[in-house]
Amino acid sequence: MIALTTPYLWYTTRATGLVALILFTMVVTLGTLVANRIGGTTVGRFEINELHRSLSMVAVVFLAIHIITTVLDSYVSTGIISAFIPMTSAYKRVAITLGAVAFDLILAVWISSLLKLRITNTSWRFIHWFSWISVVTALVHAYMSGTDSRTGIGLVLVSACSGVVVLAALWRFFGRPTRAAGRTALSPLAKLKPPANTRPVSRPFASSPRPPTRRGR
Ligand code: HEM
Repeated sequence: MIALTTPYLWYTTRATGLVALILFTMVVTLGTLVANRIGGTTVGRFEINELHRSLSMVAVVFLAIHIITTVLDSYVSTGIISAFIPMTSAYKRVAITLGAVAFDLILAVWISSLLKLRITNTSWRFIHWFSWISVVTALVHAYMSGTDSRTGIGLVLVSACSGVVVLAALWRFFGRPTRAAGRTALSPLAKLKPPANTRPVSRPFASSPRPPTRRGR
């Protein structure tokens, strides 16, 4: 087997890892804005949703480069199997396992989004919850395996991403508007009843079989 190792592969692994982490942090934050129904006239909910989706694709590209350079670099004994299957890397076994778990969960979220029209909304939303577990495992992976992430600017970046994810999670769970409560299937909020003073959503033709039409007159 040809041994391929150059400092540039290593630099690329480190740089793309950090960029992917920052992008995934932005993606979950934007996802929280979407879930919490944030958006006005200047930047609407549609634009925020589109940014969330586009940025997730850019993040996946950086993650793919991060994994490919790791696998190509024979300086670390981490093969392509270890990118998917936990506890198979000879190099930093636990740290790489967390990276692999984060990657597997991201793949599940990504594939479910590609199949969104073919699966039920409930299944899609349930799988989308994995993104929280994924970003947390990615953060621990980054801290445990990184060369840069334990000192200086790398540590500042990983800490900042952790802080943003915690704030986004708190806001997602506690700051969600009551008008959105119960709309997310299988979410912890789904079981909460809206407060007594909340007006029920008006559904004008909910009880009648069909809305009146000209022909029916
Ligand atoms: C969502 C998934 C992942 C994210 C966000 C991520 C991000 C990161 C970050 C931020 C670092 C620290 C870079 C540094 O400070 O030097 C890192 C290190 C590393 N990651 Fe990942 N990673 C992910 C998945 C993976 C997977 C699946 C593998 C295995 C193929 C992997 C292999 C590595 C290696 C070998 C290092 C150590 C680099 C070093 O020692 O400097 N990562 N990752």
